[in-house]
Amino acid sequence: MEWNNNIVGRLKWSDSIVNRSEKESVAKQIAAKVKDGDVIGVGSGSTVYVTLFAIADKIKAEYLTIEVIPSSMEISLACIQLGIPQTSLLNKKPDWTFDGADEVDKECNLIKGRGGALFKEKLLIRNSAETYILVDSSKYVNRLGEKFPVPVEVFPSALSYVENELSILGAENVELRMAKGKDGPVFTENGNLLLDARFLRIDNNLEERIKAITGVIESGLFIGYNVQVIS
Ligand code: 5RP
Repeated sequence: MEWNNNIVGRLKWSDSIVNRSEKESVAKQIAAKVKDGDVIGVGSGSTVYVTLFAIADKIKAEYLTIEVIPSSMEISLACIQLGIPQTSLLNKKPDWTFDGADEVDKECNLIKGRGGALFKEKLLIRNSAETYILVDSSKYVNRLGEKFPVPVEVFPSALSYVENELSILGAENVELRMAKGKDGPVFTENGNLLLDARFLRIDNNLEERIKAITGVIESGLFIGYNVQVIS
């Protein structure tokens, strides 16, 4: 039975989409890669959202059957709206994944997680033989941390301990990410909190060292991953 109401159908992206035309251009490149039968891991963020529209058009035009594995509620809702079938990592392994990023350096190392979906995004990338990171020109940096802090997903009762440990690792400033549409902090998809940690220097082993802190679920550092950056 179908719902009579259409709350999901009426949803729109929460903010205005910056650099939209650049995002639409990379979206077309990704839609061109979609083949019948593909299982595709889908990251989060506005670039991914725009890309889903291009993929939905291709599915309709070519009568394709595909499934996607979303990394967040935001993207799952967009897939329902666009009629794109979904599955999960428990059922299927992705043939490939696409995602966005907040920063990309010359070695294709990334900072991700402004959208707070970094844990599932990392899980999808780890499960995929191929990953495409879609970026507009604003995302390129000379060194990671130039524009964005490193998001760190933290089990709630470990908040103070993790803040302290991040400072010991060299974080200059650590902020609890606050929500915009509700009072209090942002809760992640997994019911955890986010600390945004600003580092002046990000070494290749910082991702491992952050992950080793008890209470850290995951960080938004993606250093040395097998990804192809598309712009
Ligand atoms: C979400 C992410 C996004 O991919 C990243 O924040 C980029 O977002 P946008 O495409 O809106 O610039 O990591 O957790």
